[in-house]
Amino acid sequence: MDDERLVSPKSHEEDTAAEKSLRPKRLSEYIGQEKVVDNLRIGIAAAQARGEPLDHILFYGPPGLGKTTLCQIVANEMGVNVRITSGPAIERAGDLAAILTNLKKDDILFIDEVHRLNRAVEEVLYPAMEDFALDIVVGKGPSARSLRLKLPKFTVVGATTRLALLTSPLRDRFGAVHRLEFYSVEAMDQIIRRTANILNTALDEDAALELARRARGTPRIANRILKRVRDFAQVTANNHITLDVARTALERLEVDELGLDPNDRRVLQAIIELFGGGPVGLSTLAAATAEEVDAVEDVYEPYLLQLGFIQRTPRGRIATRRAYEHLGLPFPERITPNDLQGTLW
Ligand code: ADE
Repeated sequence: MDDERLVSPKSHEEDTAAEKSLRPKRLSEYIGQEKVVDNLRIGIAAAQARGEPLDHILFYGPPGLGKTTLCQIVANEMGVNVRITSGPAIERAGDLAAILTNLKKDDILFIDEVHRLNRAVEEVLYPAMEDFALDIVVGKGPSARSLRLKLPKFTVVGATTRLALLTSPLRDRFGAVHRLEFYSVEAMDQIIRRTANILNTALDEDAALELARRARGTPRIANRILKRVRDFAQVTANNHITLDVARTALERLEVDELGLDPNDRRVLQAIIELFGGGPVGLSTLAAATAEEVDAVEDVYEPYLLQLGFIQRTPRGRIATRRAYEHLGLPFPERITPNDLQGTLW
């Protein structure tokens, strides 16, 4: 269900082809994430000056913020090839061995969802990352021997939405770890205008800002919303996105002023109406909203946390006063022990 959401930051099929042409190809075109971009620029310049491949890089943060794009950019800047795979796609140690033995010197191996690599595969990856070596066991039982193959020097770029799920030996093998943040409204505004330009769509300044405010700090969502609003403008408004057109289109798409869609509101409503505002455990909340636990944790929570609409406590998630206010619900004033001081109790 999540993948059908307009504001889902996960990649849609439809996005992938179009997204590619919208994606910036060089660091100089990249908007936002200034700290990460600056650090990458230095790492790239230093590696190039030494004539060595880059250190292994890990990008982490909520989906849709540019982890894959940055990997492609790094490859373009270094002038090397990228081989793209993902944690769940590499099922067996042999699958990874096949990938590794096909890499050429300086190539980048991009592993998306790197927290989902299984143990046996990780064991093969450790010496590959550390010593550029592939250890192969030949034979079985007492006559089994380990052979060490040399691999060309290459760079792993890992991406994950869940840093905490990475095993520490794997995490330790990344020389550079970059956290991607939600984009500021100003950065989103620039990204949306850049995309409108590429799509040849007339977009008023105030309309761009409105979309920027409602795109959850996530470029993938911004570009998706922009395309839907463009459809709307094409059919109803002479292909020109004014503030009015943007607002009407967003209303139809049920994206509210803060970028929440009906599913986000459903999660908040569940905490408030089914669980008295919380605390409620993650799996209970997921079951009550018919969502996957991962979707609640990776997709809904980060933005609701960022807005200060929910809090994570040791006993579960709670909805804050702001969440009640946003939904137009009365906030129950709770009686705390402090309130009772000075009373008969
Ligand atoms: N398109 C998507 N993300 C972008 C970014 N960070 N900068 C420029 N264009 C983008």
